Amino acid sequence: MTAHEPAPQFPASFRFGASTASYQIEGGVDAGGRGPSIWDTFCAEPGRILDGSSGAQACDHYNRYPEDVALLKGLGADGYRFSIAWPRIQPLGSGRANGEGLGFYDRLLDELLEAGVEPMATLYHWDLPQALEDDGGWLNRDTADRFAEYATLCAMRFGDRIKQWIPVNEPNVVALMGYALGMHAPGKALMFDALPAAHHVLLAHGKAVQALRAVGAKQIGCANNHAPMWPENQTPEALAATQVFDDLWNNLFADPMLTGEYPTGFAEQMPAAKGGSVADDLALIGAPLDFYGVNYYNPFQVGAAPEGAEMPFEYRDIEGYPKTDFGWPVVPDGLREQLVHLRDRYPNLPPVVITESGCAYNMEPDASGVVDDQPRIDYLDSHLRAVADAMAEGVDVAGYYTWSLMDNFEWSEGYSQRFGLVHVDYDTQVRTPKRSYDWFRSVIAASRP
Ligand code: NOJ
Repeated sequence: MTAHEPAPQFPASFRFGASTASYQIEGGVDAGGRGPSIWDTFCAEPGRILDGSSGAQACDHYNRYPEDVALLKGLGADGYRFSIAWPRIQPLGSGRANGEGLGFYDRLLDELLEAGVEPMATLYHWDLPQALEDDGGWLNRDTADRFAEYATLCAMRFGDRIKQWIPVNEPNVVALMGYALGMHAPGKALMFDALPAAHHVLLAHGKAVQALRAVGAKQIGCANNHAPMWPENQTPEALAATQVFDDLWNNLFADPMLTGEYPTGFAEQMPAAKGGSVADDLALIGAPLDFYGVNYYNPFQVGAAPEGAEMPFEYRDIEGYPKTDFGWPVVPDGLREQLVHLRDRYPNLPPVVITESGCAYNMEPDASGVVDDQPRIDYLDSHLRAVADAMAEGVDVAGYYTWSLMDNFEWSEGYSQRFGLVHVDYDTQVRTPKRSYDWFRSVIAASRP
C-alpha cells in the first residue's frame, strides 16, 4: 500500500466528512448564556493541561462558523460531525432550554444545509455542565435522566435539520480517562471504583436513543473508540493482561450496545437502580442502532503489570511503525483488523461509519504560507485503503470522517497537537488549508460519479 497507487474506489453512497467537538473549537465559553462545564473547571486547575491553556478561545468557531462551513463546502465534504455543547442548551444541566444556545446551533445548521453539507450531531463530547458534576456527574445515575431530557430538547428543536445523531462520544474515554485515571475532566482517579460511571454513561446512551426515537429520529448511532489489543508476547501473563484491557477498553462499551450484555463478570459490579436492575438497563442500552461509529487511532500493545500494581496491565511501546508527532504509532492495517473483528464478534453489527480517524503532525506554514503535511496525506491515504480492504472482506462501511477539520484544543495536551486538515493560527485565528486538505478534496471529488 503506497500513496502512488490509485486511490481505492468507494461506492457512490459512501460518505466523506470531517469531525470536530464543541469545547475543542468553539471558544465563547461565556457567550450566549453558556454555563460552565467540567472542562472549564479542569483547565483552571494548575498542572492539568500541558501548556496551561483552555478552550476559552480555541478556534473562535462560535463567531467564525460561517468561515468554517465554507471550508467544509470547499472540501466537498458530504457530512460534518460536530457536537452540541450541553451547557449552551442547559447552562445548569436541567430545566428549560436557553434560547441563545439553541440559536447558535440553528445558525450553524442553516449554514451547513445551505452549503450542502449534512450535519451529524454528537450530543455529548465531554463538556458536562459543571452543575451536574457538582451532584456527582457520571457517578450519579440521575445524570443519565438529565441527558435524556437534554436529548429531547435537541431533537425537538433540531430534528428537522439533523438526521444523524450520536448520543455520546467515546463512553470508554469518558469513564476511564475522566473517572478511573483522572487525566481528563473531572479528574477523578478512582480506578475500578469508576465502573458506575461507565454504567451511567452507557445508560445515558440508551436513554437518549429512546428519547430521540420518541421524537422521530431515524439515524442514530454512536462513536465508540476502538483499539485492537496486541499482547506483547504469548505468555499466559501477557494474554491475561491483554484480555482485561480489551474488556475494559473495547468490550465493556461495545458489548452492551451491540449484544445487550456486559462482558463476563462486569454486570455484577454495576450499580443496580432503586426499583430497577442492571438487566433492565442493559435492555435499553442494547436497543438497535442504525449505524455503529468507530473512532480509530492505533492498536495498543499490552503487557502484564508487576504484582501489586493498581491495574493488572501496562502499555508497551509498539516498535517498527512510524509515529505521529504525538508519538502514536501509525498502523493502518489495525483499522482493517478492528473492523473485521467487530463484524466477527457482533453478528448484528449495523453499517459502520468511521466517525474519527486522523493524526497529529505539527507543521506550520512555510515562508510562502504552505503547510506541507505530507505525513498526514500518507496517513489518510493508508487508512482509507485499510477501510477499502475491510470492505473487500465484507464489512459494511458507510463513511469516513477524519479527525479533524481544523487544528484545535487537544484536551490535556492543550494546543500542542495539531490534528487538522486546516491550520489555525491561535493568535490571529487565520485558517490555512494544509496540503492534506487539497489532497482530501481530490479524493472526495474522484470518488464521485
Ligand atoms: C478522540 C476524541 O473524540 C477527540 O476529541 C480527540 O481530539 C481525538 N480523539 C484525538 O485525540
